[in-house]
Amino acid sequence: MSHKVAPSLLSANFLNLQADVEMVNNSQADWFHCDVMDGSFVPNISFGFPIIKQISKLAKKPLDVHLMIVNPDKYITEVKEAGAYMMNVHYEACTHLHRVVGAIHDAGMKAGVTLNPHTPVSLLEDILHDVDMVLLMSVNPGFGGQKFIEHSVAKVAKLKEMILRKNLHTLIEVDGGVNLETGKRLVDAGADVLVAGSAVFADPDPTGMIHKLKSIV
Ligand code: DX5
Ligand code: ZN
Repeated sequence: MSHKVAPSLLSANFLNLQADVEMVNNSQADWFHCDVMDGSFVPNISFGFPIIKQISKLAKKPLDVHLMIVNPDKYITEVKEAGAYMMNVHYEACTHLHRVVGAIHDAGMKAGVTLNPHTPVSLLEDILHDVDMVLLMSVNPGFGGQKFIEHSVAKVAKLKEMILRKNLHTLIEVDGGVNLETGKRLVDAGADVLVAGSAVFADPDPTGMIHKLKSIV
């Protein structure tokens, strides 16, 4: 199965979000990646549930919601009602991760667990079989347009090996500094979903860039 591409709307034009949502609808992209930041877990504030709800009214593809917030377990109902398909919570933000993953499933969403660059994949040993996706951050979360952290490629390979060893089908998504060059190395290492913000929206031809990211072999 070929990899998925999830454009991050953090780099979209917020003055004309409708146009960018429609661009993604009419492209080869698989998912919409929506970044929620609270100014506490990360040093930036982005957008919240009312915006995601508006996006979901226009979106013809699933919403992959990445919560860079403290206490994400408090907002499971809001995330579901905003139209999320996948709810990603940070490992570093959940003391009772197993309970949170169960609650996300009970709410009718897929559950993703996100790791900051310093968090080793080995810490997922006892939760991997319960989650649908692992989102590996290849930058420190909080901003678009940052430089890709090279060690992320080795992390993808290590996580892929864990998933195969356990005979699971957990998806690996990578987020931060993804472009055609880093994307190719991530897919080679076993990534299933590439998030791309600035690579897509800063390109003069975003639809063409999504096509190129999808065409990585
Ligand atoms: C960063 C966000 C990313 C961001 C990626 O904290 O989680 O989704 O939009 O942006 P690029 O692709 O520009 O690194
Ligand atoms: Zn993200």
